[in-house]
Amino acid sequence: MSDELKRLAAERAVADVEPGMKLGIGTGSTAEHFVRALGQRVRDGLDVIGVPTSERTAELAKAEGITLTTLEEMPELDLTIDGADELDPQLVLIKGGGGALLREKIVAAASKRMIVIADVGKLVDVVGAYPLPIEVIPFGLGATWKALEACLVANDLPVKMALRGGDEHPFVTDGGHYIIDAHLERIPHPACLADDLTAVPGVVEHGMFISLATKAYVAGPEGVITVE
Ligand code: 5RP
Repeated sequence: MSDELKRLAAERAVADVEPGMKLGIGTGSTAEHFVRALGQRVRDGLDVIGVPTSERTAELAKAEGITLTTLEEMPELDLTIDGADELDPQLVLIKGGGGALLREKIVAAASKRMIVIADVGKLVDVVGAYPLPIEVIPFGLGATWKALEACLVANDLPVKMALRGGDEHPFVTDGGHYIIDAHLERIPHPACLADDLTAVPGVVEHGMFISLATKAYVAGPEGVITVE
C-alpha cells in the first residue's frame, strides 16, 4: 500500500517536469518511482538533464536513459525531486534514512525549487519520531560522539544514539563518512538544533532540511495532496 502511494506521489511530481529542465534527482524507494516515471517521459521525447544524489540513483537513472551530469558541470538546478523520511506542514524534513543526506542537501540547496514526494504516513505535526541521521567523519568518532551527547543535553533532547551498521561494520556513505542515528522522539525547535549540530567538529551534515523544500506531494488513500 505504502509503495503504491509512493508511486502515486512520484507520478504527480513527474508531471511538473518541463522540457529543458536541469533536475536534482533524489534517493530512496519513492525517488526510484520518480526516476522510472521520468525515464518513461524521456523515452517519449522529453529533454532534461539530471544530477543524481547517490551512486544508487545514478545507476538507475542511467539504466532509464536519463542524461546525467554533475554540479561541477551544472552548479545551478531548476528543480530537485526527492523523498523524505518525515515532513511537517511547514516543510521541515527529516532525510537520510537511505544514507544519502549529504549529497541530497547539496543538490537541493543548488536548486531553485525542491518538491518532496511521500506517502501520507510520513506527514507529521512535529518531526523527530524518525531517528535523525547525523553524518560524521570517521576520524575522532569517540570525541564527536561525546560532543553530540552534550549538544543533545543542551537542547533538552534524549541522548539516545546509534552508529548505523554497528561498531563492527559501520555503514559508510558515498562520501566515506559514518552515520549516527539520533532517536529524539520530537524535535520542537529544528532550527536551533540544526545550528548546534552544525557547530560540532566532526559533523559533516545532519538530516534536517529546513527552508529547502518548496512543495510536497503527499499521497494517501484519498489521492495526492499538495503541501506548500
Ligand atoms: C535517502 C532519503 C530518502 O529520501 C528517504 O530515506 C525516504 O526513503 P523512501 O522513499 O525509501 O521511503 O533521505 O537518504
